[in-house]
Amino acid sequence: MTFQDKVIYQIYPKSFYDSDGDGIGDLRGIIAKISYLKKLNIDMIWFNPFFVSPQNDNGYDIADYYKVDPTFGTMADFEELAAKLKEAHIGIMLDMVLNHTSTDHEWFQKALAGDKKYQAFYYLRDPKPNGDLPTNWESKFGGPAWGKFGNTGKYYLHLYDPTQADLDWHNPEVRQELYKVINFWRAKGVHGFRFDVINVTGKETKLVDAPTDVASKTLYTDTPVVQDYLKEMNTASFGQDPDAITVGEMSSTSIANSVQYTLPANHELTMVFTFHHLKVDYANGEKWTKAPFDFMKLKQILNDWQIGMAKGGGWNALFWNNHDQPRALNRFGDPVHYRAKSAEMLATTMHLLRGTPYIYMGEEIGMSDPDYTSMADYVDIECKNAYKELLAAGKSATEAFEIVKTKSRDNSRTPMQWDNSEYAGFSTHKPWLMPTNQAEVNVKDELVTGEIFAYYQKLIKLRKTQPIISLGDFKPLLENDPQVFAYLRDYKGQTLVVLNNFYGKSTTVQLPDSLANRSGKILISNYPEQTTVGPKIELKPYQSTALLLN
Ligand code: NOJ
Repeated sequence: MTFQDKVIYQIYPKSFYDSDGDGIGDLRGIIAKISYLKKLNIDMIWFNPFFVSPQNDNGYDIADYYKVDPTFGTMADFEELAAKLKEAHIGIMLDMVLNHTSTDHEWFQKALAGDKKYQAFYYLRDPKPNGDLPTNWESKFGGPAWGKFGNTGKYYLHLYDPTQADLDWHNPEVRQELYKVINFWRAKGVHGFRFDVINVTGKETKLVDAPTDVASKTLYTDTPVVQDYLKEMNTASFGQDPDAITVGEMSSTSIANSVQYTLPANHELTMVFTFHHLKVDYANGEKWTKAPFDFMKLKQILNDWQIGMAKGGGWNALFWNNHDQPRALNRFGDPVHYRAKSAEMLATTMHLLRGTPYIYMGEEIGMSDPDYTSMADYVDIECKNAYKELLAAGKSATEAFEIVKTKSRDNSRTPMQWDNSEYAGFSTHKPWLMPTNQAEVNVKDELVTGEIFAYYQKLIKLRKTQPIISLGDFKPLLENDPQVFAYLRDYKGQTLVVLNNFYGKSTTVQLPDSLANRSGKILISNYPEQTTVGPKIELKPYQSTALLLN
């Protein structure tokens, strides 16, 4: 099997299943649900970080890369999980957060205590002569990107939370330490790695102010040295494993750079996560706004990336959802009137593209954003900071709350809904984030009366049985249609025509003659009654249909 026909499932361990009744998901909880994962027939699971961490950024602030955080279990639990997943033929992808460590990490603590070796692990800088911070850079979670380094008078760089200190990748000792971490987990049978914000590791040694009209991230994102680091990391670690599958999380990257990151001949990464298609509901490019999504822009971005990556020989990771995104069903579908149909349409759109699809837990049963009523219901630092900033910028409490409600990362972090009980069958204890609509959406009912899970099973099976899906070329179709996202996949004389109606009203598409004259069959559709192939095809609300033409 090639990696192109694999499907990866993402588990946010904190919210998947709680086996010990403390309201927080854990590794033994995942062991308990392997048969469910097997039923879906995914190939690999990406686990968000479960390493020792003070959890200020839910595990993306790692204090010990080599240990399982006691909240999630023990190393023995991990080893049992790994063995059981291996038996089930499911691989493991671990989250490597190598751009920064928690300020609780031993390296940072030693640095604080005056150890020069470890001070050289981080970006420590003096204030400007006038006492200002070393640069005007902003943290991605709000506020300045510099924190006071004890009482030394110096500052340390943190592109994220003040408790996430950026590592200085120029220091070869830092890089060697990080490769050791990867190899430690490889020795435990791990073949998959997701690299957190890996394209911001290439900061200059001399850090300078961003000009006032330029976002500071442009100074340190996607710099050429990142390619060198990735090559070196590949050789020193996972590149020695022919079965390795890797994905780099690339913040604000470009097609040209992503081709280079994933071109097999470059020996860097298998694929990349990019986010341009998930910024189409940002007003003026700002995340903390509320705006309907721009469908034509979404099409354009997906098309451009599909074409550009294929042309350069790169490979895309395909996804709508993850633990940082509100649920796609709320953004691009209709969870109220067409929950199943729009969930299936979104799944079809992604899974039949060229690339590797990722399913974020709960997507396969049509989970949607929680209906919270107060800021006290939220946990995530990013949305709490954003709320304060929105108020400070003059928004009313109601307006600010409405924005948080649509954009908070907690939207996807709510517990997996296993049944309709008070805590959604996730825990016997009050969960760390509350579920709100488990009465309508849960695994138990979905497996008996639902259609979304079965539809995902079909899509996964198709990728494994139809090389046109895993290997075919991509071409856009009906680019100007304001309601339908359509594309073609071509492989060995066959053509797959994929039609996706993104709206709750019917529409008819006219296929070009070159396609309309060919015979074929329906490979998959979320309206099973449709069986005919012809030049004019009617698409019902949120209908997806894929026709395989000879
Ligand atoms: C991206 C991760 O997905 C996100 O959850 C985290 O906050 C940042 N990187 C910082 O590690």
